[in-house]
Amino acid sequence: MNAKITPSNERPIAVFDSGVGGISVLKHIHALVPNEQLIYVADSKHAPYGNKTPLEIQERCFKIADFLIAQDVKALVVACNTATAAAIDVLRLRYTLPIVGMEPAVKPAAAATKNGIIGVLATTGTLKSAQFAALLESYGRNVEVVTQACVGLVECIERGELNAKNTKALIRQYCAPLLAEGADTIVLGCTHYPFVRDVITEIVGKEVILIDTGAAVACQLQYRLTEEAIQSKRNQTASVRFWTNSDAINAKQIISQLWGGNADITQDNDFHID
Ligand code: DGL
Repeated sequence: MNAKITPSNERPIAVFDSGVGGISVLKHIHALVPNEQLIYVADSKHAPYGNKTPLEIQERCFKIADFLIAQDVKALVVACNTATAAAIDVLRLRYTLPIVGMEPAVKPAAAATKNGIIGVLATTGTLKSAQFAALLESYGRNVEVVTQACVGLVECIERGELNAKNTKALIRQYCAPLLAEGADTIVLGCTHYPFVRDVITEIVGKEVILIDTGAAVACQLQYRLTEEAIQSKRNQTASVRFWTNSDAINAKQIISQLWGGNADITQDNDFHID
């Protein structure tokens, strides 16, 4: 009779990615709505998503969403461009809670470029998707868009090798065609890439504008919470909890490093969902 029920607006918000990349988005969310309780899931055991088929990605997204919805979350953020492209439509068909996704920042880049040439760094899956083709159709018509799939870069970031020689070599290799075409604006079209923003700047030069969508996703989430009238009424900073299915011995250390402080992390072999 006296069962404790969490009021619907005090339930947590879930944020997930193929791995640790979505932490770059989580930081923007926590900064914008610090009173919202957050749960982050890193599906690192199955990263990268970039070379998986859309069906394989959808299957992972369903498992993660089921796990999170079982924890009574009030909204879901797909902090992954690749998963959004492959699965956002089917997720919205299956679940009724608000779901916020993301896409490479082609629109703001097209507005920011001075010479009309933009570069897009993303995963193979994102660049091959129908959603990305539609994005180019809508916003890339009046600019030259140079795309580059960054195979292997997500793995470097998953290992926490942000400044390693091999990471820098990959970034140099992938930025070269963009620079050769004269891109003055580069879209970081994967949530892992903001973690190597400094290295990218070092390679492409400070005058090249780098754009990611973390802040825009946080704003969109806040808008959806308001629209649904499910914003938290808490007046203090809420907890942020992390789940990872990585079995790396330094998985917790990498998450804390990327989060920028001590993090509350549960390392669990696939969150009991396989
Ligand atoms: N962080 C992801 C993205 O935004 C996916 C990277 C991957 O797993 O390939 O696209």
